Amino acid sequence: MIKLVFDSVKFPLERMSLLNIYLKADQPRARWKRLDTARILKRFYFCERSLVISCSAWLPHIESLEIKTMLPYFSWQNAKTANELRNRVFELRFPSRLLEEQGADRPLAAAFGFLRQAPSVSALLRALAQVALPALRDAYDEFLRHSDPLADAPTYRFLELGLAEKQKQITTIGQWAEDELVRNLSERQTTERWVRSMARLLEELGGVGTDEAPNSLEVEPPQGSQPIRIPDKPARDPRYWPCRFYWPDVVDPEFPYGEGLLLQLRSAVSHLNEVWAVEHGGIILSEFADDLPWEWLQDAARWTYDEARHCRTGQERLTAWGFDCAEIPLGSYIYESANGEDPIYRLGMLYFFETKNIGRKPERAAAFKQIGDDVSEHDMEFDWADETIHATYGNRWLKALHEANSEKIPSPEQVRKRCEELVQRMIHSATAEEKVAITERALGLINQAKQMAGKS
Ligand SMILES: [Fe+2]
Ligand SMILES: [Fe+2]
Repeated sequence: MIKLVFDSVKFPLERMSLLNIYLKADQPRARWKRLDTARILKRFYFCERSLVISCSAWLPHIESLEIKTMLPYFSWQNAKTANELRNRVFELRFPSRLLEEQGADRPLAAAFGFLRQAPSVSALLRALAQVALPALRDAYDEFLRHSDPLADAPTYRFLELGLAEKQKQITTIGQWAEDELVRNLSERQTTERWVRSMARLLEELGGVGTDEAPNSLEVEPPQGSQPIRIPDKPARDPRYWPCRFYWPDVVDPEFPYGEGLLLQLRSAVSHLNEVWAVEHGGIILSEFADDLPWEWLQDAARWTYDEARHCRTGQERLTAWGFDCAEIPLGSYIYESANGEDPIYRLGMLYFFETKNIGRKPERAAAFKQIGDDVSEHDMEFDWADETIHATYGNRWLKALHEANSEKIPSPEQVRKRCEELVQRMIHSATAEEKVAITERALGLINQAKQMAGKS
């Protein structure tokens, strides 16, 4: 019986050639094979990397505290996407771990790097919102429409998140760009001209794209570009009271750090004044990007974003208590202490001065708990958790830079010593007028705080 069935199937098979007939298999999800996908993701990675470096270099030039502390949030998101892209390329190309060669993606990565040479903050923001981020958004959107959520599911997941983040970044930065232009009307023409040139350049390269590699061109910075430099005076939000030394105890050892209400106020002003740490984070991220491995960018993006959050927690506590920004000191002495020095000292300051009080934070959080100041306690505890991570960053990267170039970069201990000297020199340069002004300002705030506390 079985033999009979088999013979009836076998008979037509023998008469039919099986060599030239196939099942139809042109399903759209097969568009990009493993190595095609790796090639596209590698391009996305280089664009994201360039974007993070460019935006970070701008931080000391940005006045608005909102933009200065939110841009690091976007850079951290983009660094996370870049990291996912990088890891996915390694998975798809296993066992190859070579990713440092930009190859065909060089012109595109260079074009994203030109954001660093924008003629102004307005031009940077407008080019981000109208050119660079939309180019990435469109490429991610195209990729997700044609990639395979089944075979390439790991890419699909993180790139969907990357796309959603890009859309939000475009909306937020677009609004900032408009506000900046209104504030600086004289820059309108230069800004628009430069952004148009950037758009033309991206167009000539064929956008970020998916299938096609960017056109192979020798790219030049758009006309009107200016190489960015590290400013001696960091830009500060004009709504605040500008100064070098932001509390009397910095220049006067007799002035108490305080407890109770004084500690609440001092701690919030300190957090707000971590604005220098945001700027140092941005500077060192971009300055060491080409000297250190990729992990540096990831750590530095997170570090800078953490400092931005610390700064915002101080700002929010002061605002919620009802203080007027115009009365609050926003200082620059640590930033300015590193002027003219190798960026290694900005890394050193960020590490040594930010983690110096790490041991006191739990003690302060407990003091806030005791007086029922929930929010200061909460912010101090999260700050403590971040600082423990930063201690690892500082150790790792100061050592790595010294080991990579011990002739130029001193040992971590020497960097620490020099940082202390630089800051002490700055403190000794405080004038009598500055000391009087900051003392009056602080006493004024303490009095206001007393009145507020009395009312509540
Ligand atoms: Fe901090
Ligand atoms: Fe820190």
